[in-house]
Amino acid sequence: MNFLREFLRYPTKTGAIMPSSRALAKLIIDTANLSNKKCVVELGSGDGIFTEEIEKHINANCEFFSLEINDKFVDETKRRCPDVTVYHDSAKNIKKYLLQYNREYCDCIISSLPWVAFDKNSQKDLLGVVCDSLEDGGIFLTFAYIHGVFLPSGINFRHLLKDFFKDVEKTEIIWVNMPPAFVYLCRK
Ligand SMILES: C[S@@+](CC[C@H](N)C(=O)[O-])C[C@H]1O[C@@H](n2cnc3c(N)ncnc32)[C@H](O)[C@@H]1O
Repeated sequence: MNFLREFLRYPTKTGAIMPSSRALAKLIIDTANLSNKKCVVELGSGDGIFTEEIEKHINANCEFFSLEINDKFVDETKRRCPDVTVYHDSAKNIKKYLLQYNREYCDCIISSLPWVAFDKNSQKDLLGVVCDSLEDGGIFLTFAYIHGVFLPSGINFRHLLKDFFKDVEKTEIIWVNMPPAFVYLCRK
């Protein structure tokens, strides 16, 4: 799968020229502490690097699905993780898919969405959906590239996280990721 090709086709949706590193996948999974989660939703699976790790770390009773907007990436994730349910749809429709599991809320959302590439209204609308889809005490994790935090859209996103969530923490930086990145851990 050619991330660069998808980036050239849809730069603001793809948001990266290569997939995340295994080190970043490990950090986000370790930070999420998935073993006791009841329902996990992944946003923007790409080629499935996080999907594969989420699948390994959830318990047998946990419900898990991914939402991915690019059909090529949907196929790629399904090839890598044939037992995971991957819907070809936008993250803004999380609620619709939770209902298919007779749920109003999940307790963990792991996002790879390229927030810094979204305009202010899209950031606010999508974060609103994320927050509405989480139960009280539920957690939201998303990674951010370090250069992005200095951009106006990165600053806006950080402020929005603090508006929407009770608690927002940042992890260490993974320098071997290209570009280097860290994870925001947010609790509702
Ligand atoms: C930076 S890539 C990350 C992919 C992969 N998780 C990784 O870390 O390598 C962002 C992904 O989010 C997807 N995406 C962007 N906007 C989306 C949306 N509104 N709903 C669902 N997926 C979206 C893109 O198609 C892309 O696969």
